[in-house]
Amino acid sequence: MTAQSPSPLSSDAWEERYQAGPPRWDLGHPAPAFKTLLESADAPKPSSAIVLGAGRGHDAVFFAQHGFAVTAVDFAPSAIQALEEQAQAQDLPLKPLQRDIFGLLPEYAGQFDYAIEHTCFCAIDPALRPAYVELVANLLVPGGELLAVFFTHSRSGGPPFGTTAAEVRQLFEPHFEIVTLEPVTNSIPSRQGEEHFGRLRKR
Ligand SMILES: C[S@@+](CC[C@H](N)C(=O)[O-])C[C@H]1O[C@@H](n2cnc3c(N)ncnc32)[C@H](O)[C@@H]1O
Repeated sequence: MTAQSPSPLSSDAWEERYQAGPPRWDLGHPAPAFKTLLESADAPKPSSAIVLGAGRGHDAVFFAQHGFAVTAVDFAPSAIQALEEQAQAQDLPLKPLQRDIFGLLPEYAGQFDYAIEHTCFCAIDPALRPAYVELVANLLVPGGELLAVFFTHSRSGGPPFGTTAAEVRQLFEPHFEIVTLEPVTNSIPSRQGEEHFGRLRKR
């Protein structure tokens, strides 16, 4: 009998990708768009934040370094382990959570001022995007914000499954005011012209 491969979007499949390493999506540093945001005059004030599909934790650590109380969620054990090691090495107040993001409710409902998204939306089955929008809306306090780097590439298949600014608007507008949704100008070279930064406020 041959062992079956796990479904490509399962936690086992993501864990296998981490173990095969180095992960091709891992920048090794925070997303440039988040650096720009936190250096800007409109930077969000340090408060509670949840990072969805946090991976090895570069964005989560970055927000924690800037004073945010960060909960970082990923269902791949190797990702959580790497994230924990980074947080401990820097003595940062970061809570790692090895969970499926779609199992966070009702436990974490309404607990966060910010939700942070960077290549998680493109990693889930596109059929789950409406559920993802509901999830983020329910994790946030009223007036809370999603800070997102969306992967707006147009190649077929995935992961990463591409999206468009129009799809983001159409999916999120029922629950969110779109404060900003603009092309990222300082993406890494391989993602130039394929990212949008979104700041979306829960209605
Ligand atoms: C493309 S990686 C991005 C990781 C990280 N955000 C980064 O930019 O390096 C997608 C991550 O989402 C995680 N993931 C995918 N679906 C998930 C789910 N349903 N619940 C929790 N984590 C999930 C994967 O384990 C993986 O670490």
